[in-house]
Amino acid sequence: MSQAITKVTGTIDGRGFSVPIGTTLLEAAKSLGLTIPTLCHHPGLPADGNCRLCLVETGGKLVASCLFPLRTDGEAILTQSPMVLEARAFTVRLLLSRAPEDPRLLELAREYGTGPDPRLADGADGCLRCGLCVRACRASGTEAIALVGRGRERKVTGPFFEPPIDCVGCLACARVCPTGFIDFSELPRSIWGRDFDLRPCPQCGRPVGTPEELRRAGVENPLCPSCRRLSYSRSLMGLPEASFSNPGER
Ligand code: SF4
Ligand code: FES
Repeated sequence: MSQAITKVTGTIDGRGFSVPIGTTLLEAAKSLGLTIPTLCHHPGLPADGNCRLCLVETGGKLVASCLFPLRTDGEAILTQSPMVLEARAFTVRLLLSRAPEDPRLLELAREYGTGPDPRLADGADGCLRCGLCVRACRASGTEAIALVGRGRERKVTGPFFEPPIDCVGCLACARVCPTGFIDFSELPRSIWGRDFDLRPCPQCGRPVGTPEELRRAGVENPLCPSCRRLSYSRSLMGLPEASFSNPGER
């Protein structure tokens, strides 16, 4: 009986790897302790290949390693070839033109010996148009924001370039943004030009989330993470629920 092939082997910068079929090239490199720079990649979100910073060379072509699934044996991948370094320097140059003060991009510019492209300076608002915020919003089940428009007009916004009316104030978009472009405040809660109430933990009074995001999660009156942990440990020990006469008494 033939056995299903579940592993794929190859080399990255001359070092052998053996990983489950479908592993991305980026993950395979990571498993060897190799670092490929990324900006629009988040391990908990689907890849989109927008920033192009993670380009590597395989079979004489450049591919985005965060998107490229390994399916055939014998792939010989290069992460530091002249073709890769040239493409990466070009990508950093473009990205830096959009976010010229971003510390990570400035560091990469030093590393790859490049700088912003002055011809693109009028698009320098700090947003890379990488779409990571949009994917985080979608993954949380809201889809309040999108990348809208074309060329230099392209930007992250709500439908029809209006503030996102479906935003629940969860801050997921701002937390994943690689450049900190999205303005927000944790306490009091505000984002995308809107202010949100915060519901307190019924036991300790700490803010747990906005009513809109709790409704989205299907929970009306949840405990905060530390009260939840405490409640779980007490239930394991067979102890009754802790009660606090004053919220904030901990
Ligand atoms: S706001 Fe941030 S995460 Fe969203 S597209 Fe711009 S740089 Fe990327
Ligand atoms: S990290 Fe792969 S394209 Fe952005």
